Amino acid sequence: MIGRLNHVAIAVPDLGAAALRYHDMLGAQVGAPQDLPDHGVRVVFVDLPNTRIELLAPLGEESPVAGFLGRNPRGGIHHLCYEVADLAAARDRLVATGARVLGDGEPKIGAHGNPVLFLHPGDFDGALIELEEVG
Ligand code: CO
Repeated sequence: MIGRLNHVAIAVPDLGAAALRYHDMLGAQVGAPQDLPDHGVRVVFVDLPNTRIELLAPLGEESPVAGFLGRNPRGGIHHLCYEVADLAAARDRLVATGARVLGDGEPKIGAHGNPVLFLHPGDFDGALIELEEVG
């Protein structure tokens, strides 16, 4: 059911500094910051030949990333994003097999303009999983 690894997200305390490190030290192609108010995050995407890195910083008071950075003040790997062809079908299969979908279970539009859902890390070995519908 899951397809390509779309991105690995890293929560960072300082988005500008992290983006500069990827650009200057690692020599990566780094995009412009994007605000995603629906998700409570500001993101920068780093393009790699086979996937992307999503640098993630809190946006607003109720950002889900703020709690993560509270527990991991220097930052850390936050989630993995796998591509699926049909997000509704993927959700139904996951719910039927006992996985917990975060939030109200309805897809939101993610950073690439595609619908996304998040799965409870307790059901996947401690790793928060994002599913993105890529048609
Ligand atoms: Co993501």
